[in-house]
Amino acid sequence: MFSLDSPESYRLYDKSNMLSNILDLPDQIATAYDQLKKFPLPSTYINAKNIVILGMGGSAIGGALVASLAKEARLPIFVHRDYEVPRFVSRESLVIAVSYSGNTEETLTGFIQAAEKGAKIVVATCGGKIGSIATRYKAPVYKINYGAQPRAALGYLFTSVLMFLEKIGQFDIDQDKIRESLLLMKGFRNKIGPQVASSENLAKQIAKNLVNKIPVFIGSGILSDVARRWKTQTNENAKQAAFFETLPEADHNFIVGQENPKDLRNKIWVVFLTSRYDHPRNILRHKITVEILQKANTPYETVMIPIATSPLSEQLLSIYLGDFVSFYLALLNKVDPTEISNINYLKDKLAEKPLEY
Ligand code: F6R
Repeated sequence: MFSLDSPESYRLYDKSNMLSNILDLPDQIATAYDQLKKFPLPSTYINAKNIVILGMGGSAIGGALVASLAKEARLPIFVHRDYEVPRFVSRESLVIAVSYSGNTEETLTGFIQAAEKGAKIVVATCGGKIGSIATRYKAPVYKINYGAQPRAALGYLFTSVLMFLEKIGQFDIDQDKIRESLLLMKGFRNKIGPQVASSENLAKQIAKNLVNKIPVFIGSGILSDVARRWKTQTNENAKQAAFFETLPEADHNFIVGQENPKDLRNKIWVVFLTSRYDHPRNILRHKITVEILQKANTPYETVMIPIATSPLSEQLLSIYLGDFVSFYLALLNKVDPTEISNINYLKDKLAEKPLEY
C-alpha cells in the first residue's frame, strides 16, 4: 500500500519529478533575484501612472501575490486575467506581461493591445510567441531559463514582478528580508518535506484531511491570493475540486450557504489560512466565522504559519506549505502531479482556430 512516509515510492505517481521543482522554490527565487538585479528597464518607466499585470493561471498568481504585498506602492496595480486590457491603459501605464510558455492567447492579445496603445511594456517568459512579439515592439524581455510547468516555476514568475516594481520605485526590497525569507523557507522545507513522518509533518497532515473532500481555502489580506494558489494547486496537482474565499467577503455570503446540500458537511473541508498581519477586524471575523461553521457542523481547520518574520516571508511560507500539501494530495489521489491533460486538450482545441497576432 502507498504511504506518504515512503518517499522512495513517490515516483510511482510523480513521473516528471514535480517534487524537485517544489523543493527548488527558494533556489528559484534566489536565482531570479540575482538575474533580475542586473536586468535594466528603460528610465521612462519610472513615470508610469498605473500598473497592469497580465497573465493567466500559474503565470498570473506571482503578480497577484506581489501586488498584495506592495503596500507602499503609490500607483494603482491591477492584475488582469482576460483578453481585453482595461480601457484606462495608455502611454502612462506600465504593462507587465507574464506568460511562462509565451503562448497564452489571453496574455498575447492583451499585450499587443497595450503595446498598440503605446504603454510601457515588459515581459517575463521562457520565449514562445510573446518573445517574438516583444521584439516587434522593442519590449524588454526577462527570459526564464527553467524547465518546468508554469505553476512549478513560481519563484521566477513572482520574483520578476517583484523586481520590476522595485526598479520603478513601487516596492521596497530589502535584500536581507529576501535572504531571511529564503532561509526560513529552507528551514520549513526540512519540516514539511518528504523525509518527515506524517505524525510530525503539517503538510502531510493537511493533505490527509483533504482526501475525498472539496476544500475551501479562506485567506485575507496578503493571504487572499495564497488561498487562490492553494485552490489552483489542488486543482492542477491533485486533480481535485477546490475553491477559495477571502475574508471579509466570505462573511457576506459564504457563511449563509452552510445549510444545503444537506450532506455538505460530508464533502466540504474549510481551511482558514491565518496571518499575524491580518487586519484586526479579520482576526475577529475569523473567530466568529469559525463559530458559525461549528454550529453548522462544517468541518474546518485553521493554519497559522509559525515562523514568519515579515509579510514577505509569511506569504512565501504559506505558498510553500500549500505547494507541498497539493503534492502530497496528488500522491494520495494516485495521480501524476505534473500532468494537466484537460488544459492541454483545451489549448489544442483553441489552436484549431488560431488567433492572428
Ligand atoms: C500550468 C499552469 C497553467 C498555466 C496557464 C497559462 O502549470 O499553471 O495555469 O500557467 O495555462 O499558461 P502560461 O503560464 O504558459 O502563460
